[in-house]
Amino acid sequence: MTAAARQPGQRAHTARIACLALAAGLGGSPSAGAAAERASPAGSASGTTSPAPGAAAASTPGAAVVPPPVGAPRFEQRLALCLACHGADGQSRLPLTPSLGGQPAFFVMTQLFLLRDGRRGEPVMIEQAKGMSNDDLRAFAEAIARLAPPAPPSEPPDPLRFERGRALAAQHRCGVCHNPDYSGREQMPRLANQREDYLLKSMREFASGRRLGYGAAMTQELSGLSEANLADLAHFLAHQPAARPGAQ
Ligand code: HEC
Ligand code: HEC
Repeated sequence: MTAAARQPGQRAHTARIACLALAAGLGGSPSAGAAAERASPAGSASGTTSPAPGAAAASTPGAAVVPPPVGAPRFEQRLALCLACHGADGQSRLPLTPSLGGQPAFFVMTQLFLLRDGRRGEPVMIEQAKGMSNDDLRAFAEAIARLAPPAPPSEPPDPLRFERGRALAAQHRCGVCHNPDYSGREQMPRLANQREDYLLKSMREFASGRRLGYGAAMTQELSGLSEANLADLAHFLAHQPAARPGAQ
């Protein structure tokens, strides 16, 4: 923890290289198994298991030859446990626990990678990620990316705080990386309708250098912003209009 805080730049760089190797196996294509297969010769110095020599020959071309890391029923059970905290519909109802719905697979994978190694996060979550294989990281990332994005909070925003947050986000060009509608892409998380308490917590942690990023971007982006600025940004981002077309 403290070591991470001391040298965020360098540690982030190491994390980034390791994540890139892992991400080579992320699907996006319907055939995630084949993608993992392509990635394994180059990507996994950390020893992702390859099928036994005979197994590949026996399977039909195009079929996934890398067996799923955990049996399908067991995976579904584990995912249900994750979503007991994070919200089965992609929307978290627990304080300081992020909604995962709508998060890009690559982002989820980079975070699980950092959490697994205890480089970021609360002990409760580090415990969850500990012992995951690289294939587990990909499987959870892909399952999570299919959850529906969270809905806006039921209470309307405070107009003054919303407007101040909007102006800050425009001035600091948050949408250049996180998308103009804050829906996120690649390694950049969805921010729209994330829990306000979690947005504020994570921004405070980036600003203070406590949260190690996959890259150093966030610590740089937030430097110079005051606590009040961060609170207004969190309020604005949490109250984005619904993702559904026409629902405003
Ligand atoms: C006991 C509750 C709990 C369980 C169970 C749990 N998590 Fe978490 N998770 C958390 C909390 C709390 C955080 C926020 C950690 C922090 O503040 O840094 C978190 C953070 C995350 C993040 C980072 C998201 C972001 O936007 O920064 C991901 C991804 C994640 N969890 C995935 C999972 C997966 C996958 C599982 C199941 C294997 C799981 N979680 C199980 C509580 C939980
Ligand atoms: C240069 C690209 C870039 C810009 C500009 C940027 N971000 Fe980010 N942001 C990222 C990346 C990449 C991450 C993923 C964190 C990591 O590095 O592990 C992130 C993560 C976050 C998170 C954590 C969310 C979560 O679920 O864990 C918040 C909150 C956030 N950014 C808010 C902002 C705000 C507010 C601004 C504008 C002031 C901003 N970002 C500008 C790239 C950027």
